[in-house]
Amino acid sequence: MINAAVFASGEGTNAENLFKFFANDTRIKIKLVVTNKDTAGIIGRAEKYKKNVQIISKESLENYTEQFIEFLKLEKIDLIILAGFLLKIPPAFVKAFPNRIINIHPALLPKYGGKGMYGNKVHSAVIENKEKESGITIHLVNEEYDKGEIILQQKCDVLENDTIETLAQKIQKLEHEHFPKAIERFL
Ligand code: GAR
Repeated sequence: MINAAVFASGEGTNAENLFKFFANDTRIKIKLVVTNKDTAGIIGRAEKYKKNVQIISKESLENYTEQFIEFLKLEKIDLIILAGFLLKIPPAFVKAFPNRIINIHPALLPKYGGKGMYGNKVHSAVIENKEKESGITIHLVNEEYDKGEIILQQKCDVLENDTIETLAQKIQKLEHEHFPKAIERFL
């Protein structure tokens, strides 16, 4: 049985989708939710699914990385799933979980990735640049923002009348459909 931790900073719809998808799975248990925001929507969703929640500040993640790794190892966590987690993962953390940290990004990387590119900021840039398509990227995390090995990409059309909201809906639909399936490849 693989023990996973889901890291999320926002609403947590992807996290909740994973809780549901893997609820009765005998291969993986989502044991823990980690967030950096004590007001994030993810907290309520985690409680609904009876997941333990650990809140960690940006400063703690950066300055107490080794202690945090130790905590996760004691919890026997062997897969880290970033579902809208907006802090950069420190290099020591990446080293501690080699090829075991998976991220989802709401665009077709390498386009629209990097620092500051998250959520609606990505969709806004895609629309501004009159892109004809966008999509999702699920990838492994390495020391550089949004640059790890790509596991899966899925595309959607961007139409002339698309807004940030309509594009966000299309992306969310792709994320909810494909993220669990991509994670299954690690089980
Ligand atoms: C998702 O669209 C995810 O791809 C994005 O944050 C959203 C979280 O939504 N991640 C990034 O932008 C990472 N750079 P959710 O909280 O509803 O799951």
